[in-house]
Amino acid sequence: MFSNPRGTKDILPDEIGYWHRIEKVAHQVFSAYNYQELRTPIFESTQLFERSIGNQTDIVEKEMYTFLDKGNRSLTLRPEGTAPVVRSYIQNGLHKQQQVSKLYYCGPMFRYERPQAGRYRQFHQIGVECLGSALPFADAETIALGVHLFDELGLSDLSVNINSVGCSVCRPVIEERLKQYLSSNLSALCEDCNARFESRPLRILDCKKPQCQPYFSAIPNIRDSLCQACNDHFSSLLEYLAELGIEFNINPRLVRGLDYYSRTTFEIISDKLGAQNAICGGGRYDTLVEKLGGPATPAVGFAFGVERAVIILRELEDALQTKAPNLFIAPLGENQRTKSFYILNELRRAGIQCEMDYTSGSLKAQLKQANRYRSEYTLIFGEEEAQREVAILKKMINGDQVEVPLDQLVDYLVKTINQQ
Ligand code: HAM
Repeated sequence: MFSNPRGTKDILPDEIGYWHRIEKVAHQVFSAYNYQELRTPIFESTQLFERSIGNQTDIVEKEMYTFLDKGNRSLTLRPEGTAPVVRSYIQNGLHKQQQVSKLYYCGPMFRYERPQAGRYRQFHQIGVECLGSALPFADAETIALGVHLFDELGLSDLSVNINSVGCSVCRPVIEERLKQYLSSNLSALCEDCNARFESRPLRILDCKKPQCQPYFSAIPNIRDSLCQACNDHFSSLLEYLAELGIEFNINPRLVRGLDYYSRTTFEIISDKLGAQNAICGGGRYDTLVEKLGGPATPAVGFAFGVERAVIILRELEDALQTKAPNLFIAPLGENQRTKSFYILNELRRAGIQCEMDYTSGSLKAQLKQANRYRSEYTLIFGEEEAQREVAILKKMINGDQVEVPLDQLVDYLVKTINQQ
């Protein structure tokens, strides 16, 4: 007996309806915002992720599925979608086609994390990347798009948390002030915080360990250290969001775990998700395109976890039933079975979702099967019906039966089933 690898999961038919719905709504909403889909490979060169996400991040240090292929190349199963999109954007010269490129993606990502509810080693993200605009309108539009998408899915009680982490001008000031504030209590902070103190002090703000929390209560507000341009950008963004009626909380500790962010960072969180409460994370990354060899191109985007969206949807609703067939064909006798097989094919081509018995069961057993499929109608086709060139159509909910001539069957069923 084999079982799936730790941290992965099978998406079974009783859950797949949620996935289809999320994907369908995402395609619709993204298209309203003029986004186009881009599909990139599942694995990329390891260096792409090291250079973009950052060598000292948890993702690159501990969580990547990295391997050497038979040609001795170091490859990595993509842990996220932004770096591959930027790689493709540069490589395919998309920046030359339009001043602003709006791209979205859906697919599996891989991180070697400790599995728990809502955290997997293979998980799925749906994400958007808007490349080419430095204006805070682009940030506001991106956040509005996420909120719109979740509204459309009926996900309620979500909150938008937002922050600015500054740019290359003000980040050193922000970090220095934070270090000054924390330096006197460094020995009381956890090992991770100490390790981050010199090289990536902002990430200390992300620490969730209870022992460190008391020392964060009065941290200097990042906003007070932003340069004028970052402050103006942030103020405009907040103004646009308020005007769009989007509620948000400013969370000065929202720094995110990937190195490429500048200015805006945001997360959309749900209290239905337990410890892994972020359904969606994103922000601005104005230097990444250039860092990966492209022209200087400001950009902003987000990604949300499909598994986490499914967890919330499942909690909100009863199980989504997979679509039942409209019709089940129950033939009796070998000749009728063969004829039914051809009728089945004709009906499917006419757009009717139908199924037939492939087990040579009795009528009783076949009706039981039809009920198990939750089929609306059963078409009974025995020897006597064959001789008279008719079939009996039985409505399963009330047992009503009508005889339908075989040569009118397709038209009759298309009409009957479409009328509902
Ligand atoms: P991220 O915050 O690392 O950002 O991931 C985005 C979302 O993916 C999370 O909010 C969560 O819902 C989901 N997620 C992440 N890790 C897991 C996991 N192990 N299991 C299940 N779900 C998970 C990014 O990946 C950035 N690339 C987002 C972005 C796009 N920023 C700008 N553009």
